[in-house]
Amino acid sequence: MGSSTSSPLPTRLNSSGVTEMDVVAAIAPSQSPPSGVRSIKAAVDGAAERLAGTATETPRLDAEVLMGFVLGWQRSRLFAHWDEDLGVADLDRFERLVERRMAAEPVAYIRNLKEFLGVEFFVDSRVLIPRPETELLVGRAAAWMDRRRKASASPLVVDVGTGSGAVAIGIKTMCSDARVIATDVSEEALAVARLNASRHMADIDFRRGSLLEPLGEPADLIVANLPYLSLEEYRALLHTSIRYEPRAALTDEADGLLLFEQLFLQVPGRLRPNGALLLEIGAGQSRSLERLASRYLTAFEPAVFSDYAGRPRILQLASPAR
Ligand SMILES: C[S@@+](CC[C@H](N)C(=O)[O-])C[C@H]1O[C@@H](n2cnc3c(N)ncnc32)[C@H](O)[C@@H]1O
Repeated sequence: MGSSTSSPLPTRLNSSGVTEMDVVAAIAPSQSPPSGVRSIKAAVDGAAERLAGTATETPRLDAEVLMGFVLGWQRSRLFAHWDEDLGVADLDRFERLVERRMAAEPVAYIRNLKEFLGVEFFVDSRVLIPRPETELLVGRAAAWMDRRRKASASPLVVDVGTGSGAVAIGIKTMCSDARVIATDVSEEALAVARLNASRHMADIDFRRGSLLEPLGEPADLIVANLPYLSLEEYRALLHTSIRYEPRAALTDEADGLLLFEQLFLQVPGRLRPNGALLLEIGAGQSRSLERLASRYLTAFEPAVFSDYAGRPRILQLASPAR
């Protein structure tokens, strides 16, 4: 699911009775923007200063990206026009966006855009913002497909919990001969995924339903980035930008393993021999998940792959030949 690694380790809220609203109120912007700001540079400098007092770890970058967004420019173009005056309307719009960022709203939601695998995806609060580490899942899927291609023409790949559709679209783009089905329980998420698929001209069959339930035939490869934060971990992250993302995309409301267990129960009969499950997992979940998989998918062969920081982040479970 991505959130536990792209964000720093959870800083726990230490009072048990803190509500989401309390957290929002506590970090909402209290300073007003300085008056009389006119040049692009002065506006960016002022915003970066105010953002530095908030939860963001990249105040200056955020201010520059938001200014580029307001002006419809690449960030790099700002520097050549640093001393130019900003129009009143642009300055006003910029300040309103900076205030949203000060309240910890993700830049991706403010711009309705996130880059993933080098291309742009539409995102809003209906979907999880695709995380950079999830690119590893797509890379593993493409590598598996390359090896498998000789065995099966037009292999069937299923992306479970597709959200913005980034994983499914990434796989379809890299492996155009694959048939790709993508599922999600959220109709709202599927609307965003369909929009992205149409923008990227990716032919994907989107189906609403839980995990593999909408699947009518066995797949060759099942990939999933499921909500894997425990309820406790999720609550501890509510002071971060995560609170803007769909709760159902982040936590299983239990121990973080529940949806994996439900998925394992659904796999028999829905994965072909010599197939594979590729799962993005939380950095501390590989042992528990291997144990869980060995209970339900006895003859499957596990392999764990790490991210660039050496943390185990992908569990592959290969189905037996027969
Ligand atoms: C962590 S997000 C992943 C989104 C996207 N695949 C990505 O990697 O950016 C998990 C997604 O799973 C969906 N989801 C949650 N429970 C599900 C279930 N039982 N069956 C199918 N999808 C589910 C959520 O709606 C959400 O879109």
